[in-house]
Amino acid sequence: MEKEAKSRILVVGATGNLGKLLVRSSVSAGHSTFVLARDSAFYDRFKAKLLHSFAADGVTVLKGSLEDHGSMIEAIKMVDVVISAVSLKQVLDQKLLILAIKEAGCIKRFIPAEFGVDADKVQVIGMDYEFYEKKIEIRRFIENLDIPHTYICCNLFTRILLPNLVQQNPFKIFGDGNTKGVFVEDRDVANFTICTVDDSRSLNKTLHLRPNGNFCTMNDIVNMWEIRIGKKLEKEYVSEDQLLKNIQEIPYPKNMELIFIYSAFIKGDHTYFPIDSSSGLEGTEAYPSVKLTTVHEFINTLPL
Ligand SMILES: NC(=O)c1ccc[n+]([C@@H]2O[C@H](COP(=O)([O-])OP(=O)(O)OC[C@H]3O[C@@H](n4cnc5c(N)ncnc54)[C@H](OP(=O)(O)O)[C@@H]3O)[C@@H](O)[C@H]2O)c1
Repeated sequence: MEKEAKSRILVVGATGNLGKLLVRSSVSAGHSTFVLARDSAFYDRFKAKLLHSFAADGVTVLKGSLEDHGSMIEAIKMVDVVISAVSLKQVLDQKLLILAIKEAGCIKRFIPAEFGVDADKVQVIGMDYEFYEKKIEIRRFIENLDIPHTYICCNLFTRILLPNLVQQNPFKIFGDGNTKGVFVEDRDVANFTICTVDDSRSLNKTLHLRPNGNFCTMNDIVNMWEIRIGKKLEKEYVSEDQLLKNIQEIPYPKNMELIFIYSAFIKGDHTYFPIDSSSGLEGTEAYPSVKLTTVHEFINTLPL
C-alpha cells in the first residue's frame, strides 16, 4: 500500500518565538513547510536573517498578513494544514484567518494560537483581563464554522515563568506549595504540535501535555533549586488571600505573572481535571518518541 504523503504545513507567526520552532520542527519531520511573513519582517535585520535561513532549509517564504485577505487565501490554497502562532494581541484577529480557511475549503487541520492552559477549564475567568475569554471565543468560532482543528494545551512554557520563580529572594511559595503545575519547553511543544497534524486521533480534539517529569509543585521547585545552588534558602509562604491582594494592587499587565501563578499553584488549573478521551488526548501517551526536557534538566541549565 502506498504511504500517504505528509501534509504541507503553513505557519502564520513564523518569525515569533514559538513560530520559528514550529517551522524548524515541521521541516525536521519532513513536511513541506510554508510561512506567511509580514512585509516589515523583511526589513528587520534579525527577522530577515531568520526568513533567509528558513528558505535555505527549503521553506517557502510567502509575504502576507492577517489583514491581507488575498495573501492568506493564496497561501492557504498551497497547503493542507495551517498553524497559527500569533501572539495574544492578535488572538481575535485570527478570525480573519479562520474565515479565509473556510473560504479556501481545502484545510484538513487548523491549529490556533493557544499553547497554554486549557481555556475552557481555567478557573480564573473574570480576573484574567480576558486572556482566556479571547481564546475561548476563537475556539467557538472555529467549531461553529466546522473547521477541522486541534487545540494544543501545553500549560506553561518552562523558560517564561520558571527562571523568575527560582530567582526570588526570599523564595516565595504560593499557597501550601503542594499544588502541581506543568512546565514544558517550547521546543518540545513545537515537536508535539507537528506530531498531531496527520494523526486522526487528534482531529477535533485537545492535545494536553502533562509529561511525568514536567509536573512540579512549588516545594519541588525550591528543592531542585536548592540542590542546584548547594544551599538552603529562606522561604516565605504567601497565602491565597495575600496573593489575591497582590494581584489587585499591581497594575495590569504586570500582575499577569501572579495571575498565572494563582491559576497554576493555587487553583491547580493544569491538573485538577482528568483528560476526557472523547475530547482530548495526552501528548506523551500518544507520541512517546518525542524527547522531552524535564523541569529538573531545565533547572540545571539555569545560571547560578
Ligand atoms: N504557555 C506559555 O507559557 C506561553 C508563553 C508565551 C506564548 N505562548 C503562546 O504562544 C503563541 C505564540 O506566542 P509568541 O510569544 O511566540 O508570539 P510572538 O513571539 O509575539 O510572535 C508573534 C508572531 O505573529 C506575527 N504577527 C503579528 N501580527 C501579525 C499579523 N497581523 N499578520 C500576520 N502575522 C502577524 C508576528 O510577525 P512579525 O514578526 O511580523 O511581528 C510574529 O511572527 C501564543 O498562542 C501565545 O499565547 C504561550
